[in-house]
Amino acid sequence: MSTDRVRIFDTTLRDGEQSPGASMNTEEKLEIARQLVRLGVDVIEAGFPISSPGDFESVVRIGAEIGDACVVCALSRAIPKDIEAAAEALAAAKRPRIHTGIGVSESHLRDKLRISRDEALERAVAAVKLARTFTEDVEFYAEDAGRADPEFLYRMAQDVIRAGATVVNIPDTTGYAYPEDFGSLIGGLMEHVDGIEDVTVSVHCHNDLGLATANSLAGVKAGARQIECTVNGLGERAGNTALEEVVMALKQRPDVFGAETGINTREIVRTSRLVSSITGIVVQPNKAIVGANAFAHSSGIHQDGVLKERTTYEIIDPADVGAGGSSIVLTARSGRHALRHRLEELGFEMAEDEFERIYADFLALADKKKEVYDEDLEALVGERERTIGETYHLQELHVMCGEPGVPTATVQIVDRDGNVLVDSSHGTGPVDALYKAINRLIDVENDLIEFSVQSVTRGIDALGEVTIRVRAGDGRVFTGRGAHSDIIVASARAYMNALNRLLVAASTDIHEEL
Ligand code: KIV
Ligand code: ZN
Repeated sequence: MSTDRVRIFDTTLRDGEQSPGASMNTEEKLEIARQLVRLGVDVIEAGFPISSPGDFESVVRIGAEIGDACVVCALSRAIPKDIEAAAEALAAAKRPRIHTGIGVSESHLRDKLRISRDEALERAVAAVKLARTFTEDVEFYAEDAGRADPEFLYRMAQDVIRAGATVVNIPDTTGYAYPEDFGSLIGGLMEHVDGIEDVTVSVHCHNDLGLATANSLAGVKAGARQIECTVNGLGERAGNTALEEVVMALKQRPDVFGAETGINTREIVRTSRLVSSITGIVVQPNKAIVGANAFAHSSGIHQDGVLKERTTYEIIDPADVGAGGSSIVLTARSGRHALRHRLEELGFEMAEDEFERIYADFLALADKKKEVYDEDLEALVGERERTIGETYHLQELHVMCGEPGVPTATVQIVDRDGNVLVDSSHGTGPVDALYKAINRLIDVENDLIEFSVQSVTRGIDALGEVTIRVRAGDGRVFTGRGAHSDIIVASARAYMNALNRLLVAASTDIHEEL
């Protein structure tokens, strides 16, 4: 079997961002985009420019910065103002792609778009033709193809190819398909559509039945040569196909697929951690490839087997996905050199003054802990990054609690103009008192809807990481994260992080939705 190249289209910054609470600001998206380039993706879908000024700006900045390292793609509906906004946002991109499309299932035509099949065909063709006036690289998506009449889908594909589409994307938007079914749909397309061999067929699967990876791979077996996916499987509802899963399946089973990707798999774990840290969406421990337990062996029989020969219970070498351990042990006695070396190995580059701040944080933590692990360093760097550009900065906090007694908190906050604000409150517990004290100083409507604490590493002295979600007055959900060896401080930082993000986003109204 000859080996074919399957392109990896990453949509973490677009469909992934549609995960509730995963919204990212432009700087965070740029950081992920840089890592996606290191990972070796073929296409970055950077956003949906018409949807908000923030999305527009992200596409502009990513397009300008990425150069020709990979294709930068912008989403649009089959509507002229969407396509024009996508083209404008991509103006500085070296390899721009416009992704446009329309619903094709009866449900979408009848209930959402309220148009006939012929009108959908007309709008699709017009959209592709308009997009082609801006770029030669035009991808068309047939939304909800997984539930569409195959004959109509073939006709739609035929028409958009004639209109100039260079990639035809077959999304299982609702995660309804199962592998045999989805493979046949792609196989039918390859058989019935003239000129299909001259374009790239793409698959874009959602995970509502937990079948996104299987469906994407079935699509590849039937002839698709692009997979749309997200890091950690983020995405609308149950998420999209997980990048790490399809990439490793293709790599581990060349006998089945005869296909390879251009992904540098050693960057997978680092990418996963970065996305988790920025979005605040924790990876489940048993998640394939990137979960904390993906290479952990617990039963005595398994441990015995692995110690004799790793492959008895392990089909992937952890080093192949970048899950190998560190050999330098960082403690309070480690100097700047060792810390800088380790940070660089972890992919963090920073200016001297920023490094000095991290070094001070590192020493403070190392004083409390015997050993500082990679995960601690990632949390420290993440903590620093979260404070850049804050509207309000938490300067001091004091909390009193105990039994009996009334939990009371006092906080001191500094605003952008340097004004120092102080207030106190009592509450049902220390975190409640703290959040009430912060609310007395930062007057912004919000409801705390989720609060979770987890330890970044092992042991009683581990750094605690608090992730929270707050719902703003307009219904939008914002995530906040904070890390510290004192979980009360971590809780305060997480709340400040969420409120700062909410305040930044308050100036950015979402106008359009898919
Ligand atoms: O799931 C879907 O159909 C999409 C399209 C916009 C490509 O995300
Ligand atoms: Zn999608």
